This record gives sequence, C-alpha cells and structure tokens, in this order.
Amino acid sequence: MMLYLDNSATSIRKPAVVYRSLFYNTLFNSANAGRGSHKPSLRALDGVLNAQEAAARLFNADNPMNIAFTHNATYALNMAILGAYDGGHIVATQMDHNSVLRPISRLGNFTIVPADRLGRVYPADVEAAIQPDTKLVICTHASNVCGTIQPVKEIAKIAHRHGALFLLDAAQTAGCVGIDAKDIDADLIAFSGHKGLMGPLGTGGLYVKNPAKLKPVITGGTGSQSESLKHPAVMPDMLHPGTVNTPGIAALGAAIGFIIEHGAEAIGEKEREMANNLHDELMNMKNVTVYGDYFRTGAVAFNINGLGSEETAERIGGRAVVRAGYHCAPLAHKAIGTNKTGAVRASFGFFNEPRDVKRFADIIYKASRG
Ligand SMILES: Cc1ncc(COP(=O)(O)O)c(C=O)c1O
Repeated sequence: MMLYLDNSATSIRKPAVVYRSLFYNTLFNSANAGRGSHKPSLRALDGVLNAQEAAARLFNADNPMNIAFTHNATYALNMAILGAYDGGHIVATQMDHNSVLRPISRLGNFTIVPADRLGRVYPADVEAAIQPDTKLVICTHASNVCGTIQPVKEIAKIAHRHGALFLLDAAQTAGCVGIDAKDIDADLIAFSGHKGLMGPLGTGGLYVKNPAKLKPVITGGTGSQSESLKHPAVMPDMLHPGTVNTPGIAALGAAIGFIIEHGAEAIGEKEREMANNLHDELMNMKNVTVYGDYFRTGAVAFNINGLGSEETAERIGGRAVVRAGYHCAPLAHKAIGTNKTGAVRASFGFFNEPRDVKRFADIIYKASRG
C-alpha cells in the first residue's frame, strides 16, 4: 500500500462522509446558491450555511456569517492582506509561506521577523519589528516546512497593543491544532479546506472578526443588492463574488463535522507523536540531519548529509510519497539552514498509523547508506 507522507501539501484521502457529500451534492445540489428563491438554489445555499456553522463551531467564532469560503488558503490570504491593506507597514515572519510573502512583497512596505534554527519565532522579535505605522501583523500558525508551531496568541496581543490587525495563516493547523478565534483574538484567519480539514481540493476559507475592517478584492455578482453597482460590504457576500463551489463547500462542511467529532487536538496529538518518533529515528542515523522542534504538526524535515533534497527523494523513489525542495517557503529554509539544499519533508496525516514511522525510517536508513 502506498505510504503517503505528503499531508502538509494536501490530504489525499478523505473521510467517507466527504466523498458521500461531494457525490450527493454534485449530483443533486449543484444549483447556484443564493441566486433566486427556487428550491435547488435554497438547497445549495443550505450546504453553504451548514459549512459556515461547522467552521464557526470549529474555530469558536460567534457569527457563522463571518466565515467565507475560497478556493484555497492562498485566495483567503490574498483577500485578507489586500482587503485589509490601507497603506502603512506590514510585519510577517521568516516562517511564512509565499502565499503571504508574495502579496506583501507587491505592497512593498514590510519587515520580516527572523526565526531561529528550529523554526521558532519569538514574540519579542515581532514587537521589535513593529513601526509606528504598522497596520497588519501576519504569522503562520505552523511552518509548512518543519511543522514548528508558533506562539500566535502572544503575537496577536503585540499586534493589538500597537493598533495593528493580526492575520493568522492556519493553512497547516486547521484540523490538527485547536484554533479558538476568541482566545487567540485573531482578526483574520485564513485556512485551507483540503489539508488537515480533509475537505475536497479547491476549498479554503477566511474568518473575519470585523468585516468593517475589510474591503472586497474581487467584485462581481453576489445575488444580493443586485440593483446597486457597489459590491456588498456584508459577509459572506463581500468575499463570495461569482458562483461559489456549493458541492465542494458542502463537502468541506461534512469534513469539518468529522474533525469536530474526532477533535482537532486529538488528531494533532496523534500526528505529532508520529512526527516526533520519526524525528528521533532519523536523529539516530549518523548520516541524516533533522530540522525543527518537537512542538510541531505532523511535518518533519530532514536531509541525508551530502545529498540535495531532490537526490534523496530520488533514492526514496516510489517507496513513499514525500516532498523535496523549498516548499514555497524560501525564507523558512534560510532560517533552518537548508537554503542551499532544500529539505525532504515527510508529513503525517489522519490516516497514517504509528507503523508508518518505522516503515519510513527503514526506507531512509537504506537510502542514507546509498
Ligand atoms: C503555511 C501555508 N500557508 C498557505 C498555504 C497555501 O495553501 P493552499 O494550497 O490551500 O492555497 C500553504 C500551502 O501549503 C501553507 O503551507
């Protein structure tokens, strides 16, 4: 059986309820949600409302209407960054993904907070990066390279103390770390639907604490206030221009229901244990260097000494599915010291079992001996 260890990219396998929901809603519920009052449209809208309610429960958000669905976390992050930006300075971190770094690079006025060799960002360094005109602080909840989880609650506090908004990139943590929007006090939370939440590809979303702080980035038809040329400022219509992916969103709602039933914390704990056990197995191999901290998601980054990460992936061949290279996070690789080689990332997900650790460690042991 295929040893799939690329869950940080996407969860290739989904719970049965997700396949059932996707199939059923594609077949019977593919009308345009919120466009007209005919039954198929209302049924499609129901799927979206249910998914909003599920996401609000998962993130402990008061108002399900403040959750909009997007194609993925990249769209959500762009909607958040470009929609919240009204001039001024932005703070992001070295562990952030290109879906944060590229949009802020286009805006121009930003500071990158350094991380240490284990991929940890320190709140004091975030505070030091703040300038008098800082309007937005962004931090990935966990690194997609080595899995390190960041102290985002403290970082949110610092942002607020200086009058800035805090945007949490939860692409790597939604579904495997407990995320309490109120406790973290995030202004914006961007998430992927297709990774840890185990929803279909082409799904993601954005939670917005205060919609008045956001402008729409893409405007168009919403099925509401159609007599006006002005795009609605209310959620979720503000962030739902055009026809939404109703079967995908309904299936994401089913996936989130599954996560709530099993508990994001419990899922994350199992994945962390597998990742930390693999970390230890790899540390015991004299030819292998492992990166990252034990306070992590299911991702482990490593290299076989003297080999580029792509060469290691070639040696692994078809025996396991992992990802080599730079993982769209070039600055994170600089932080952990792999900017010349990249790294191999093995990432555990819900459907992995503890025996997969030994299976993969054996593959790497043999690969490390040529
Ligand atoms: C930390 C982080 N942010 C954002 C993204 C973008 O997610 P998506 O592929 O859903 O657009 C990723 C994807 O790997 C990620 O790891």
